[in-house]
Amino acid sequence: QKDAALAAIADAASLEALDEQRVAALGKKGWVSLALKTLGQMSPDERQAAAPAIQAVRAEIAEAIEAKKASLEAAELEAQLASETLDLTLPARLAPSGSVHPVSQVMDELAEIFADLGFAVATGPEIEDDWHNFTALNMDESHPARAMHDTFYFPDKAADGASMLLRTHTSPVQIRSMKEQGAPIRIIAPGRVYRSDSDATHTPMFHQVEGLVVDRDIHLGHLKWTLETFFKAFFEREDITLRLRPSYFPFTEPSVEVDVGYSNEGNRRVVGGHGDADGHDWMELGGSGMVNSRVLEMAGVDPNEFQGFAFGLGIDRIAMLKYGMNDLRAFFDGDPRWLSHYGFSA
Ligand code: PHE
Repeated sequence: QKDAALAAIADAASLEALDEQRVAALGKKGWVSLALKTLGQMSPDERQAAAPAIQAVRAEIAEAIEAKKASLEAAELEAQLASETLDLTLPARLAPSGSVHPVSQVMDELAEIFADLGFAVATGPEIEDDWHNFTALNMDESHPARAMHDTFYFPDKAADGASMLLRTHTSPVQIRSMKEQGAPIRIIAPGRVYRSDSDATHTPMFHQVEGLVVDRDIHLGHLKWTLETFFKAFFEREDITLRLRPSYFPFTEPSVEVDVGYSNEGNRRVVGGHGDADGHDWMELGGSGMVNSRVLEMAGVDPNEFQGFAFGLGIDRIAMLKYGMNDLRAFFDGDPRWLSHYGFSA
């Protein structure tokens, strides 16, 4: 029986199989244990004669089991290590990482270029009151231009009775900045604006950058030079042509819309060249004009001493133009594949 048991132990292919052999021999009802029990019924002399042999068998079996257990465990570890081999020549799997959004990137670029031209960055609240968004910009309650803004109004009025709204443009920052700093002043104000409007080319939230220069002897030529200089630096090309088209805004007089010449390359619009040249067209980038003297007055600046120009450009639109994007809505989908397609992932 001993030899059979030792052979079975040596053959055990797994720790479980080995344990079965241990139970069969050394377990409570195992044959070695039963043999040991018979010692109890023997006379002392018989016991003395039989015990050493049985004890020796038990020791031999136990030793065999321990040895086999150690070798099975070693084999198991070996197998585990082999299956977990690291191939250090494989390319590392990079953790997904975020990146700067094109709109934020363009705001940074804008601020840098205008800083070189002596403009400071100003901000104002996105939740604005009626007075700063409309009235102080020469749109009193009955002004028809108010209706064109598709304004999101808040249902409740402020404590002082003011109607509150999501600002429809960055122009209220003109008023806040002039009230705070007076004239002369030279600021840009990039930020979010809101209009209840949504289709392929409009989203209910979008971005504008306001510009305001108020000083002595400011005229439309300064406006044109400033915009031209900015666009050349922003689009990084010299052949930028601007077209100033007569327009109307209640807060500027005269008012002009700013168009830039571009051409189509595939489904991509590329700025540059004269908009009337072959294969070219004009794209509107924003509005501008000389600050209406009534606006200066309402903001506490003396129009007899100071004049100024202001502009408001669509940031999303100039970002699309610069980076060759063609769907405005994709800006706000937050799809990292879209960002990386345009080179914005880290
Ligand atoms: N606020 C105007 C708009 O949103 C743009 C503008 C700004 C026009 C400043 C003139 C001067 O359409």
